[in-house]
Amino acid sequence: MTGEELHKLWWGRYVENYPHEMLNLVNIVETLNPLEIIIEIGVKQCGTLRLWERTVPVGGMVIGVDMDSVETITAASGRSTQVSKEPPPFSQHQTEEFWDNCPSSFLDWQTCTDGLFDAVQSDRQIHFVIGDSNSQGVHDQIKSILGGRKADFIFHDGGHYDDVPQKDFDNIVLPFLRAGGLFALADIRDDGGKALCQNFPPSHNPVQVVPPNRAGIALWWKP
Ligand SMILES: C[S@@+](CC[C@H](N)C(=O)[O-])C[C@H]1O[C@@H](n2cnc3c(N)ncnc32)[C@H](O)[C@@H]1O
Repeated sequence: MTGEELHKLWWGRYVENYPHEMLNLVNIVETLNPLEIIIEIGVKQCGTLRLWERTVPVGGMVIGVDMDSVETITAASGRSTQVSKEPPPFSQHQTEEFWDNCPSSFLDWQTCTDGLFDAVQSDRQIHFVIGDSNSQGVHDQIKSILGGRKADFIFHDGGHYDDVPQKDFDNIVLPFLRAGGLFALADIRDDGGKALCQNFPPSHNPVQVVPPNRAGIALWWKP
C-alpha cells in the first residue's frame, strides 16, 4: 500500500491511529505469505479495518472484534454506505515526510465520521464479532468463523489496560494465529500493553516496534 492509497482510504473517516506508523505496519504485514486471514481486536469505526480489508486478497477474510455495538459497528456493517466526500488530491503536504512531522495529536482529517465502511459490498469476507474480547462467547465465535483455519495476522487495538491484552494474547493470539504469523500490539505505552510486551514468549525474531513509534506498536512473530 502506498501513502496515497492510505490517504484515500482514510479520508473523511474516524481513525484512532497515526497514518505513517500504520502505513509502515501495513507494509510489514504485506510481506506475510500466506496472507489471507486477519483478525482485528478493537475496531471502533473501521479506520484500521479498512486497511486490512484492502491488504487481504479478494476472497480473503477479516474478522473484527469490538464490544461496542451501538453506532459504530452496526453502521460499519453496511447499513450506511454513502461516502459523501471525495478526498482531496494527495498533495505535497500529505507525504510521508509530512506525516512523520505531524504533531502527536490526531490529525483533523482523521476525525470526520461521514464515510462509513460497507462490509456488505466488500469483495472480501468481513465478519464482526460483537462482545468483550476477554469473553468465552467471543472466542467461540472466532473459532466458528475460522472453521479450523488460522489467522496470518492479528492486530490488537482493543482494551489497552490491566490484563486485557494479556488475556487476549492467551485466548485469541496463541490459539488462532498460525505458526510464522504476525501479532501487532498497539499502544504499548499503556499499562496492559507494556506488561504483555515484557511477557512475550520467545520467538525466532526479536520483538520490534514499528517506526516512527507514535502510539507504539510492538510486533511479535509466532514461532
Ligand atoms: C482505539 S479504538 C480502535 C480504533 C481502530 N482500530 C482504528 O484505528 O480505527 C479501541 C476499540 O476497542 C474496543 N474495546 C476496548 N476494550 C475492549 C474489549 N475488552 N473487548 C472488545 N473491544 C474492546 C472499544 O470499544 C473501541 O472501539
